[in-house]
Amino acid sequence: MYFQWYPGHMTKAKRAMQEDIRLIDVIIELVDARIPVSSKNPDIDIMAKNKPRILLLNKSDMADPAQLEAWVAYYEKKGYLALAVNSKKKNEIKKIHELIQKACREKKERDKKRGIINRPVRAMIVGIPNVGKSTFINTFAGRSCTKTGNKPGVTRGKQWIRISKQVELLDTPGILWPKFEDQTVGQHLAFIGSIKDELISGVELAVDLIVFLTQNYPGTLETHYQVSETQDPAYILEQLAKNRGCIQKAQEPDYEKAAFLMLDDFRNGRLGRITIEHPCPDV
Ligand code: G4P
Repeated sequence: MYFQWYPGHMTKAKRAMQEDIRLIDVIIELVDARIPVSSKNPDIDIMAKNKPRILLLNKSDMADPAQLEAWVAYYEKKGYLALAVNSKKKNEIKKIHELIQKACREKKERDKKRGIINRPVRAMIVGIPNVGKSTFINTFAGRSCTKTGNKPGVTRGKQWIRISKQVELLDTPGILWPKFEDQTVGQHLAFIGSIKDELISGVELAVDLIVFLTQNYPGTLETHYQVSETQDPAYILEQLAKNRGCIQKAQEPDYEKAAFLMLDDFRNGRLGRITIEHPCPDV
């Protein structure tokens, strides 16, 4: 299957983000914990060089716990402050405050030497569409936050959300685009539902997912759909269709319906905590 992507005003958005990055002290980058490579845009590495970086492996509630641990260790080794999070959970936020302070320790010390005390750290959220940026901002900012309003000359009309006395957040997240040159990236983004279903073949994608699951998470399909995993993937999809009542008028299996049923179960975590991309030394 060929995955195509129409990035739209990519250059313009990139330039705007570069402007924003100049105003901030720390970048909080969100990736999807199930595909930490494909959901990470390498442009940010260039745009954000010299800035402290926090990497949040979001949607961790749907990712394989052992792989999460391995990914956090992997990114820490690469110099990030990395953390697995579930953006829907308010109780995870405290750890992020600690990380922000840790990331900005040097800056705070520099400020102190220059007589600047208690200036809030300015942070910005970045990530590709659908990784959970808005959800994270809502949970992180909570109800108690106040918009700080425009400060002409200082913020150039940007809106900041005051999270606490110590942190201000740029209220519009920086949107990056996935790297689509690599077809595996497209496939992985389609697995998690980050590509419009109209642009993909559900059946082909479901067959790809069946191959992945039988190899990497054996027993999952058998448990959830009572299918035999020793069969070939197309036959497994047929069995799944029959077992779940995805049948067309002429009693033929409805492959398309069965494919999206399975994809939907996977995307919503109903097949268990599964990670598609596993860290390896040369990623
Ligand atoms: P974006 O701004 O980066 O584009 O992403 P957004 O916050 O809109 O989140 C995309 C989807 O991911 C939303 O689901 C959101 O609820 C879900 N999500 C975000 N963070 C997490 C997380 O840590 N864990 C889980 N399980 N889900 C998360 P949706 O179905 O599109 O919307 P809704 O039905 O939740 O409103």
